[in-house]
Amino acid sequence: MPQMIGIELNKEFNNQIVEELRSGYIYLAMSAWAEQRGMHNFAAFMKTHAEKEEYKHAMKFVKFIQDAGGKVEYGAIEKVPSDWADLETVLKEAIKHEQHITARIKILWDLAKKESEVYAFEMLGWFLEEQMEEENLFEDLLRQYELTGKKDGYWDHRVHHP
Ligand SMILES: [Fe+2]
Ligand SMILES: [Fe+2]
Repeated sequence: MPQMIGIELNKEFNNQIVEELRSGYIYLAMSAWAEQRGMHNFAAFMKTHAEKEEYKHAMKFVKFIQDAGGKVEYGAIEKVPSDWADLETVLKEAIKHEQHITARIKILWDLAKKESEVYAFEMLGWFLEEQMEEENLFEDLLRQYELTGKKDGYWDHRVHHP
């Protein structure tokens, strides 16, 4: 098997698997919170996002580590909140979380660059682009919420989900 990932980056990629799975975990919690309040569209949106996007991100790191001849380790996922004051707080927290993930990807990008890990560096370029989309996605939800007069039910009606 080729050895195309260094020990330090391998460790950080394993940490990122947990970060991505925890992102999904947070969004599942937000989905449950919304479901309980009758916001079925937003609940479905967040659940699908957790399943389709965050799980996919985690698996992308898993596959890269394996392809590069590294070792996959699944760490513990820290407990996530299950209560928020209101919908606006939920949306702002989701944006803040995506900003945190973007910052994480930048740390990995810097490390890959420093260590001349060219394959990882290429792959992280994809993640940086993805993070721009992710931040935009949640910022747009908040913008729509503000534009529609912060009426939870009306806004939820307009949330599209796959
Ligand atoms: Fe992600
Ligand atoms: Fe995300």
